[in-house]
Amino acid sequence: MTIAVIGHGYVGLVTAAVFADLGNTVWVVGRTKEKIERLKVGIVPFFEPGLEELVKRNLHAGRMKFTLDYKEAVKPSEVVIISVGTPSKTTGEADLTQVMAAATSIAKALVGYKVVVTKSTVPPGTNKKVADILNTHKPAGASFAIASVPEFLREGTAIDDTLHPDRIVVGTSSDRAQELLGELHKPIDGKIVWCNVETAELIKYASNSMLSTKISFANAIAFLSEKVGADVEKVLEGVGLDKRIGRSFLYPGVGYGGSCFPKDVKALIAIAEDYGYNFTLLKSVDNVNEEAKKNFVSKIVQHFGGKLKGKTIAILGLSFKPNTDDMREAPSIGIITELIKYGVSITAYDPVSMEKAKTVLPKGVQLKGSAYEAANGAHAVAVVTEWNEFRQLDLVRLAKHMKNLVLFDGRNIYDPVTVKRLGFMYYGVGRS
Ligand SMILES: NC(=O)c1ccc[n+]([C@@H]2O[C@H](COP(=O)([O-])OP(=O)(O)OC[C@H]3O[C@@H](n4cnc5c(N)ncnc54)[C@H](O)[C@@H]3O)[C@@H](O)[C@H]2O)c1
Repeated sequence: MTIAVIGHGYVGLVTAAVFADLGNTVWVVGRTKEKIERLKVGIVPFFEPGLEELVKRNLHAGRMKFTLDYKEAVKPSEVVIISVGTPSKTTGEADLTQVMAAATSIAKALVGYKVVVTKSTVPPGTNKKVADILNTHKPAGASFAIASVPEFLREGTAIDDTLHPDRIVVGTSSDRAQELLGELHKPIDGKIVWCNVETAELIKYASNSMLSTKISFANAIAFLSEKVGADVEKVLEGVGLDKRIGRSFLYPGVGYGGSCFPKDVKALIAIAEDYGYNFTLLKSVDNVNEEAKKNFVSKIVQHFGGKLKGKTIAILGLSFKPNTDDMREAPSIGIITELIKYGVSITAYDPVSMEKAKTVLPKGVQLKGSAYEAANGAHAVAVVTEWNEFRQLDLVRLAKHMKNLVLFDGRNIYDPVTVKRLGFMYYGVGRS
């Protein structure tokens, strides 16, 4: 099958590369000449494990093609997939500008019959608006069906998630679209949930909100654990072994971040408000997430008795989670910004996100080449992202570089007993 994918971000490029690897011809449409030229020689604009190799392989096999020209991509394609960004507006609502611009450009390029799929995360009703735009701008004689196929991949494991998803959600009322999308997804081993467009749109927000709820619940239990003298890790182990609950996503930390959970929780609150429902549960999920970041900073402030001026703190991990360079809504940004307000000097290290971090972190943060370099002369080390490399740190070596042996473990990756035995003062999350 020949398909077109609009947008070459974390979702678009992975989707395109996986479908190309499954034998399809995939046109990828971008809007930045420089990025498209680099993609044409196999240079991927972000870090995702295995993606550059996959793109290069399919590029050389002639199955992946990159263009700025919608007509070139849409004309030969049976399915056109919109996978552009849907960031938050300041009100929390999803900003659909990119989706609507892509839909307008697709409409003008339509010839014959196409299935137009929205993969971007969009509020219920958006696919219908896409259909209106297609109808308004399409040339006479062109026809189309719409479908909502939301994406569930996780950055860091995106290729595997796309090939082996827990489920594929397809919302459409068109038999022809159902047939084509059934064929396209045949080699992918996830159960297909067929539904109407609005259901598919809502499933995506409900899923991300549920996962965010589990994280905020774990954080709320962590706050309480510290107060009652419990160990949150044991509490959640005890809770998570109940098969009805499970342990997945029941991990406390410094709050969820990234390009999806914060924006999708806020968007679902806004969607509910639009329909007259006050989604208090999700408002609390969002509030607890903010508290998680604040509590981490408070622990650091309290340790130093509020006297942080002239202190150096080494931040380990900057991306919003391990195995990605994505800095969107990364908790590290807020934590570092707050600490700087107290007059703290920040050194920082992340295995892959340093280039992106430079563009979003406050001025003055000193980026270092390793965890040990970042810890050199530091009054404390704070682990913000749980990269495996930090789990394997040689803490004896780290200690030799530090001025004071204080460790703030924002992800509970260390065993407190071992760390304390090495002479560190240890602060975890929910470990009294
Ligand atoms: N990143 C994730 O982990 C993830 C997972 C599931 C769903 N999603 C959803 O998928 C969508 C895309 O997310 P992402 O992380 O890939 O975003 P992204 O910002 O990484 O990528 C968006 C891409 O769209 C391109 N673009 C924007 N407007 C365009 C236009 N008119 N024509 C051509 N290209 C255009 C941008 O240049 C960029 O390459 C969002 O709705 C997001 O919520 C993301």
